[in-house]
Amino acid sequence: MLKQSVGFNSLALGTFALITALLLAGTHLGTQDKIAAAERHAAEKALLEIIPRERHNNDMLIDTVPVPRNLWDKLGLTHGGLVNIARLNGRIEALIIPAVAADGYSGDIKLIAGVNRDGTLAGVRVLAHTETPGLGDKIDLKKSQWMLGFNGKSLSSPQPSGWRVKKDGGDFDQFTGATITPRAVVTQVHKVLEYYAEEGQRLIKADEAAKLGETTIKEGETIKVSETIKVNETIKVDETMISPGARNE
Ligand SMILES: Cc1cc2nc3c(=O)[nH]c(=O)nc-3n(C[C@H](O)[C@H](O)[C@H](O)COP(=O)(O)O)c2cc1C
Repeated sequence: MLKQSVGFNSLALGTFALITALLLAGTHLGTQDKIAAAERHAAEKALLEIIPRERHNNDMLIDTVPVPRNLWDKLGLTHGGLVNIARLNGRIEALIIPAVAADGYSGDIKLIAGVNRDGTLAGVRVLAHTETPGLGDKIDLKKSQWMLGFNGKSLSSPQPSGWRVKKDGGDFDQFTGATITPRAVVTQVHKVLEYYAEEGQRLIKADEAAKLGETTIKEGETIKVSETIKVNETIKVDETMISPGARNE
């Protein structure tokens, strides 16, 4: 009798524990989905704020390239990320680069920074952060205009020594009683510009070379090929194969 009762109680307890665990897991997954959806929505809104409709006519949300693995650290990304491309009639106008400033006051500050083709900043926005309300949260445009101070800045303007908050001798304002947050953001945005100078410009060149590969060779143009090609065969052509001046004739 006693054995039966212990068995029943154990089974009831086990079932209860299992249901509780499943409910907790479900809530956790649901919350994660909601957070991811909110971040996605913030990213879509921020992309259009940085590169408005008159500056692009592609779908920036699907026109993306992954950040190469060896450059994740530079952007503070632990799980990688996607660069969104803004194009006007096929030509790349700007890249919107994701980054994380991990040395804020309390945890990761997720950013996106739009860099124009000429290397100037089109705009920077915070997608998510947990900085202290009233102190570090002035990085949010809803709270202050501080983020707009990056517009038009580049690797050469200000000079590298200016890419710090004023308290550290640089050009950027800190907040009253809060230097850690703006310091982290300024440092990370500068790294985004370095990323653009290295990888962004390479991407733009490769994009253009690929397009050149799709162009039709006009009558009278000379191209150099290293292998025999058949009549009507489609080949990829790059700039180095076209004889100098042929395009301008
Ligand atoms: C409860 C609490 C919350 C704080 N939150 C922030 C914050 O979100 N961002 C920030 O930069 N500083 C924050 N501070 C202030 C920093 O501790 C630090 O004093 C300030 O950023 C100045 O840094 P500095 O000495 O490097 O100039 C907070 C301080 C306290 C006590």
